[in-house]
Amino acid sequence: MLSRLRKGSMRYLMIALLLFWQGSLAAKVVSYGVEEDIFHPVYAKNGMVSSVNSTATRAGVEVLKKGGNAVDAAVAIGYVLAVAHPQAGNIGGGGFMLLRTKEGKTTAIDFREMAPSKATRDMFLDEKGDADAKKSLTSHLASGVPGTVAGFALANKEYGSMPMAELIKPAIRLARDGFPVNEALADDLDVYGREVLLNNPTSRAIFFKPDGTPWKKGETLVQTNLAHSLSLIAKEGPDAFYKGKIADEIVAEMSQHGGLISKEDMANYKAVERTPVSGTYKGYEIFSMPPPSSGGIHIVQIMNILENFDLKSMGQNSADAIHVMSEAMKYAYADRSEYLGDPDFIKVPVKALTSKAYAKQLASQIVMDKANPSANIKPGKLAPYESDQTTHFSVVDSQGNAVAVTYTLNTNFGSGIVAGKSGILLNNQMDDFSAKPGVPNVYGLIGGEANAVQAGKRPLSSMSPTIVTKDGKVVLVTGSPGGSRIITTVLQIVLNTIEFNMNIAEATNAPRIHHQWLPEEIRIEKGISTDTINLLEKKGHKVSVKPTMGSTQSIVVTPEGLFGAADPRSKDDLAAGY
Ligand code: DON
Repeated sequence: MLSRLRKGSMRYLMIALLLFWQGSLAAKVVSYGVEEDIFHPVYAKNGMVSSVNSTATRAGVEVLKKGGNAVDAAVAIGYVLAVAHPQAGNIGGGGFMLLRTKEGKTTAIDFREMAPSKATRDMFLDEKGDADAKKSLTSHLASGVPGTVAGFALANKEYGSMPMAELIKPAIRLARDGFPVNEALADDLDVYGREVLLNNPTSRAIFFKPDGTPWKKGETLVQTNLAHSLSLIAKEGPDAFYKGKIADEIVAEMSQHGGLISKEDMANYKAVERTPVSGTYKGYEIFSMPPPSSGGIHIVQIMNILENFDLKSMGQNSADAIHVMSEAMKYAYADRSEYLGDPDFIKVPVKALTSKAYAKQLASQIVMDKANPSANIKPGKLAPYESDQTTHFSVVDSQGNAVAVTYTLNTNFGSGIVAGKSGILLNNQMDDFSAKPGVPNVYGLIGGEANAVQAGKRPLSSMSPTIVTKDGKVVLVTGSPGGSRIITTVLQIVLNTIEFNMNIAEATNAPRIHHQWLPEEIRIEKGISTDTINLLEKKGHKVSVKPTMGSTQSIVVTPEGLFGAADPRSKDDLAAGY
């Protein structure tokens, strides 16, 4: 009898402990090493890096181990990616850094490319007045003035702790001595490289062998000219790039081939520190990139709409949850096409778009059993381009600083043009402008007046480096490439973590969905069940299974330590810490 009683009370004790434990899991936004986890994040106690390239991740961890902070590590990673991941890593492109200091200050560094001073509104139209994607993607007109070198210099000056020259060293070594080409680069050279690099002699000389075949996996890629450019930046600072020898190379390349970037454009480039966009969701604070990115505004807007629904009880990736999320996404992308652009040129209604009242009004228009048809705007023909280039990396250090960087050449290898002897691949970010109102860009995004080409303007972006906090403490650092899909990919990482209580590996690996208003379809990855698709179709949605979306690099911060997850959709990426 006594032993039966004991057994009974033991059982109650076990259940009580289990309930308590599950409750605390929910509070921690992450679980690990427990039986119900289907995927496991990488764990580290002190510092963590997640990036698309294992060499870059290791270089970042080394900086952290040496006592550098998260900004130092981010700068070193950014330079290494410019060598080892030339599909998107760059010094000839631009991007955004979102950072949260250990003191709790959150800030954003905008190093987006700027349109050259000779850029004009109709520069990407052909003689018939139609948008000419070749001009905006693969010609010398495709490049904006690069911002990466200035952005990293600003971050280093304001928030770094190590000398810049020290942080560029690993990249110089890698470019000078070479590195074994990984599978991701070999594959991309074989597909996209043949399209955009092969016909440019300066690019071909670097990325292809004399017989015209691209470097293969395991072969050593040496980039002597790039090593020289990097050494100049290490020695002379950003002036080498914007005013010195490198500027000369870029400007000469432009003037010989009908490009617009001038010496003055290079000298006038400025990285800008901006206030992040922020919002709240069920007790969490969301910080993300402000204009000229649309990402922060629309992540907050969609989350504000979703806060009006009980997503959790609908279930992650259930038909109802996907329906509500898609409807919310449509409103956001419709607003994007109208209101978003460079804040230095147009007034972006940030407050109105991210207000809870506006979201409530939009939420009230969502009907549970029926999809609203997208407005009847002719979307035009979409380019069948499926590259996922742009790259994101996240860093958290032992002091509690957190950094999220998304930067890019735009599509794979940018314009495909290496500027003269600089070894530097140039971006094709000008395609992110709206070449003609109502005509979609390479990501199917439509824009208008607010994002028209204009001298000195920054093209509208979707890049969304994002940091989530609770009670003033960082809980999640994340971001992704994916063009128009960046916003919805990042949104799902945040929701999977804080709403659906998945650990960061589960949140990352879960199949993704995307709606961008036009084209009128929910795009999904493999792994959403046929039953769910049928239910969505019954509500009136068109559902298309398409290639994977994004390559997220995320870190969750808990009192127990750091949990990282690189995206299994990318080859050769790595989350690691110490
Ligand atoms: O800034 C933007 O939104 C785009 N240039 C990003 C490009 C990108 O993510 C490429 N990957 N699909």
